Amino acid sequence: MKEKLKICVATNNEHKVGELRAIFNGYDVELYSLKDLNIVVDPEENGKTYAENAYIKAKATSAFTSIPVLSDDSGIEIDALGDHFPGIYSSRYATKNGGQEVTNKMLVEKCASSKARFIAHFVLLNLEKGSRHDFEGIVNGKVSSTIEGKGGFGYDPIFVPDGYDVTIASLSPEEKNHISHRYRASIALLEFLKNEKYI
Ligand code: IMP
Repeated sequence: MKEKLKICVATNNEHKVGELRAIFNGYDVELYSLKDLNIVVDPEENGKTYAENAYIKAKATSAFTSIPVLSDDSGIEIDALGDHFPGIYSSRYATKNGGQEVTNKMLVEKCASSKARFIAHFVLLNLEKGSRHDFEGIVNGKVSSTIEGKGGFGYDPIFVPDGYDVTIASLSPEEKNHISHRYRASIALLEFLKNEKYI
């Protein structure tokens, strides 16, 4: 039997690891978190794009492991806040505004119905020594007019995906993991791994 492909997920965000594990379930890939590998790394994300930040995280992590490293830089873009904003600053934007709950409350008041999207950029490093592969996933939608739902994390309670009339946080984890930006980037990655016979 072919051995599963081992990949280290370069994030300290347990929500992301959980979602990726659920999405990759059933494929010949074994995901290890930083915690599983006892890796402590938290580099400054001072890039100007999702791709740069994802690379910074993957590169810093790859110093601690010889298996391929996958990192996800993601964020929400809300048209009413300006071009691609908060985007790569999504996490810092929530912190700066007093935390995620306060920020979500402010956003439903200020930006209800604004077009928005979630973006996930993946960098996979060292599939072969020194190699780099990038994958991206986007889910379009709008900001809701109220905070809704208990699932997911971050901006999920205020984001209504196109084709739905409830927020992502109101969906089951299985439903989120079939439409999310992270799911779309993961499918692109898994297709690549299958086509190239890594799995
Ligand atoms: P990162 O860890 O630097 O990629 O920050 C991503 C930030 O974007 C998170 O802290 C969340 O605020 C937001 N974000 C990314 N993906 C999601 C998601 O699936 N749901 C809700 N918020 C997300």
